[in-house]
Amino acid sequence: MKSFFLGISIVILFLSDRPELRAEEPPSAVAKAAGSEISFRRDVWPIVRRHCRGCHTNTKLEGGLSMDSVADMLKGGDSGPLFDIQDPDSALLLNMIRGDQPEMPKGQPALSAAKIDVLRRWLEAGAKDDSLPGGDAPPVRIPETYRFAPAVTAVSVSPEGKRLAAACRSEVVLFLDVDAPETASLRLPTESDLLTHVEFSADGKLLAASGGSPGQYGELRIFNAADGKLLSSRRVGTDTLFRGNFSPDSTLVALGSASGEALLIPVDPAAAVRAIPLHSDWVFDVAFTPDGKQIVTGGRDKSTKIADVESGKLLRTVDESADQISAVAGNAEFAFSSGRGRTLTGFEFKIALQGVEVTGGGNGSRPITRRDQYAKALESQPGPVYDLATSFDRTRLAIAGDYGDVRIYDTTTRQRVALIPDVPSPIYAVSLNQDGTRAAIGSKSGIVNIYNVADATLIRSIHPVPVQKPVAAK
Ligand code: HEC
Repeated sequence: MKSFFLGISIVILFLSDRPELRAEEPPSAVAKAAGSEISFRRDVWPIVRRHCRGCHTNTKLEGGLSMDSVADMLKGGDSGPLFDIQDPDSALLLNMIRGDQPEMPKGQPALSAAKIDVLRRWLEAGAKDDSLPGGDAPPVRIPETYRFAPAVTAVSVSPEGKRLAAACRSEVVLFLDVDAPETASLRLPTESDLLTHVEFSADGKLLAASGGSPGQYGELRIFNAADGKLLSSRRVGTDTLFRGNFSPDSTLVALGSASGEALLIPVDPAAAVRAIPLHSDWVFDVAFTPDGKQIVTGGRDKSTKIADVESGKLLRTVDESADQISAVAGNAEFAFSSGRGRTLTGFEFKIALQGVEVTGGGNGSRPITRRDQYAKALESQPGPVYDLATSFDRTRLAIAGDYGDVRIYDTTTRQRVALIPDVPSPIYAVSLNQDGTRAAIGSKSGIVNIYNVADATLIRSIHPVPVQKPVAAK
């Protein structure tokens, strides 16, 4: 297989190893628990994670219930706490899973007697919480100096083109002056195994970084873009989050998820996350229209969709491609998408959404226009595409992937305006400043290159993190 987007392939690796996807967990786990004292972390958590959290987590609260932590379980759902330590045997937690036709897990095979026994004994022993902060994920470790340069999985250049953020594995490196990178760079740690997205807000004030730990949690951190101060941090869902976009008004970040949902995560950590179910598989990227009213999404189910932000409704599936979609973008007239298939297509909103109800029950079920009426092919790319980026003013669109150049298009004429040659590839990330005159490009090699778009010249190469064996810069 050709080298494939590292972030995604690492995530695939971890996800295919997810315990809840395995047919049966090793019987030793349950057997071992039979003799010794029950541990929440070792014995109870794997059962909850595999059988319950598909429907009871903080982004999917069936019955109002999250089972993300012991505290959430004590709090319970619409009918109250899952258990009372004084009276473990009448716990709702147990009543729902035992009997001839247990109610939970809904629509799925009943839990084995051994597993029910584990839960019962844990309650009887006082429901002690020995979970580690961050669930059962190993703590993220950020080396002072890396042995080998970590791939740059995401980059963002600020609107005025002065600041740069690069995601290297679990940390974000923020350069306050990209023209003097030695003077002020800040290493901002996260709790993500792998960051998949970094982005400055359109007002230039905030920096978002997101990713997570596969099979454990998604994470979004918001930093002050002027000094790198951590403003908020939150965990969302049970898997790594994919890429997305700051809303134009800088109040929320929309991100793709492994659950097929586009997640709208407010910058204010006290405000609730909205999950919009759209795809049948992982959503790799989300982009807002310039007015913030719609989102464009694309993912592993090979489709490109447009949804209404306020109602959370799917407006239309504008494309079903033959290959997975890795990246989406948009301006006021067009949604753009690209991916493994190397094609770059623009979908004209006005025509694609003709006759689609935006406010009512519209779900795109009866489109009145055909694909060939609204889809406009741009130039095909030389290899699989990993990233698309628009300038903050949305006049330009950059595209990059598993090939050594970056092409930049005018979003109105859809003609190419620049080709930056000889970039170290594969390229995982590209970003443009306010008017698309400056580009930052992040490669697997671990280098970020800054270019002047007008004449496609390299301004400088930056190694974001200290490395024992640095690779030669381009
Ligand atoms: C496939 C989805 C699904 C799975 C898996 C699932 N549940 Fe549920 N659960 C629901 C839904 C939906 C409801 C809402 C009531 C209903 O529709 O029956 C619910 C309601 C509940 C409630 C009542 C909440 C309240 O306060 O009203 C409890 C308790 C519960 N589930 C426990 C569990 C436990 C324990 C597991 C794992 C062993 C589990 N569920 C797995 C879908 C699920």
